[in-house]
Amino acid sequence: MVMFYKICRLSRRSMAFMRFAFVFVCGVLAVSAEHWNVINPNTNLTCLILDADLSFNLKFLNDTSNQTQSYTADFNQTNNVYGECNAIHKNQSVNHLKVEFYVTSEEPASLLSSWTVEFWFGKPKDSATFQLVDYKLVTTRTAEIPFSGTFERPTSAEAEIQAKDRNAFQCSDTTLGLNNESSIQLRNLRTIAFADLNSTDFPKEQQYELCSTDAKTSKVVPAVVGICLAGLVVIVLVAYLIGRARAKRQVTQTIKAKGK
Ligand SMILES: *[C@@H]1O[C@H](CO)[C@@H](O)[C@H](O)[C@H]1NC(C)=O
Ligand SMILES: *[C@@H]1O[C@H](CO)[C@@H](O)[C@H](O)[C@H]1NC(C)=O
Ligand SMILES: *[C@@H]1O[C@H](CO)[C@@H](O)[C@H](O)[C@H]1NC(C)=O
Ligand SMILES: *[C@@H]1O[C@H](CO)[C@@H](O)[C@H](O)[C@H]1NC(C)=O
Ligand SMILES: *[C@@H]1O[C@H](CO)[C@@H](O)[C@H](O)[C@H]1NC(C)=O
Ligand SMILES: *[C@@H]1O[C@H](CO)[C@@H](O)[C@H](O)[C@H]1NC(C)=O
Ligand SMILES: *[C@@H]1O[C@H](CO)[C@@H](O)[C@H](O)[C@H]1NC(C)=O
Repeated sequence: MVMFYKICRLSRRSMAFMRFAFVFVCGVLAVSAEHWNVINPNTNLTCLILDADLSFNLKFLNDTSNQTQSYTADFNQTNNVYGECNAIHKNQSVNHLKVEFYVTSEEPASLLSSWTVEFWFGKPKDSATFQLVDYKLVTTRTAEIPFSGTFERPTSAEAEIQAKDRNAFQCSDTTLGLNNESSIQLRNLRTIAFADLNSTDFPKEQQYELCSTDAKTSKVVPAVVGICLAGLVVIVLVAYLIGRARAKRQVTQTIKAKGK
């Protein structure tokens, strides 16, 4: 009972801070992803949106030593964005996004050349509305990575990024495999293609299909919340019963006292 009161007092005092922390953390999470979109000039509608934080795990072959050397790089800043809503790629009709960007580096920005990442979304024959069918990364030398290279999607790569109907696709953390055992990591990914959106951002009412890892956690979170609520109900019930028992005893004692 005392503990319960303590928790209540504590939570009331820390509520304001918690709310601030929540808004702060969620705000940061919401704005941290890069945002790119492609507009169809014929209709002025957005056909493609891709929001994500990118980082890269790359392996280069050192010709001198005949050994592969591994590097990681983080996206820093977009330089240029190109896109087409009605393009043909590898014989299929696609939505195309091409981003020129800089990676984080010790090197002064004036000396850096941009890297390029491209995404092609197709319309698969099955029920999905869009699917990421191809991607490509072209890197240039930096102070940290003394190699440049072109990395492509291996033919064996899985195709998880897709959605049905008017849904978008969402994943908190997913990896796109590249050849030479390299990869692009996408965090806080939200994307849609073959869409006709009024705005350049996702509408509030947008529905998302989750990647399989997020779908699993989205089942765990409600379960945890449910258990916590059940625990709270038990605590309140116990507190109530203790309180009632105590009140009863007091009443009995008062009656006894009056009886004397
Ligand atoms: C698209 O927008 C531009 C400028 O906002 C406007 O001039 C043009 O007429 C619009 N085109 C269509 C097809 O709505
Ligand atoms: C990828 O591997 C191939 C064959 O091992 C090699 O020729 C090529 O240079 C590698 N690419 C990069 C960017 O290191
Ligand atoms: C390639 O390997 C050689 C021999 O190990 C090494 O001296 C050289 O620095 C390496 N090159 C790069 C660009 O790391
Ligand atoms: C490089 O190493 C691979 C195996 O690690 C070997 O098969 C290949 O012959 C080597 N090439 C050269 C030029 O030494
Ligand atoms: C492209 O598609 C057309 C018609 O579907 C087909 O005739 C042609 O062989 C395809 N080309 C390639 C390179 O796949
Ligand atoms: C990221 O880009 C900004 C703007 O160009 C630059 O000032 C900053 O130094 C870059 N950060 C890193 C770590 O490269
Ligand atoms: C587009 O925007 C206009 C006004 O902003 C709205 O009336 C209309 O319903 C929107 N259309 C779609 C398809 O969302």
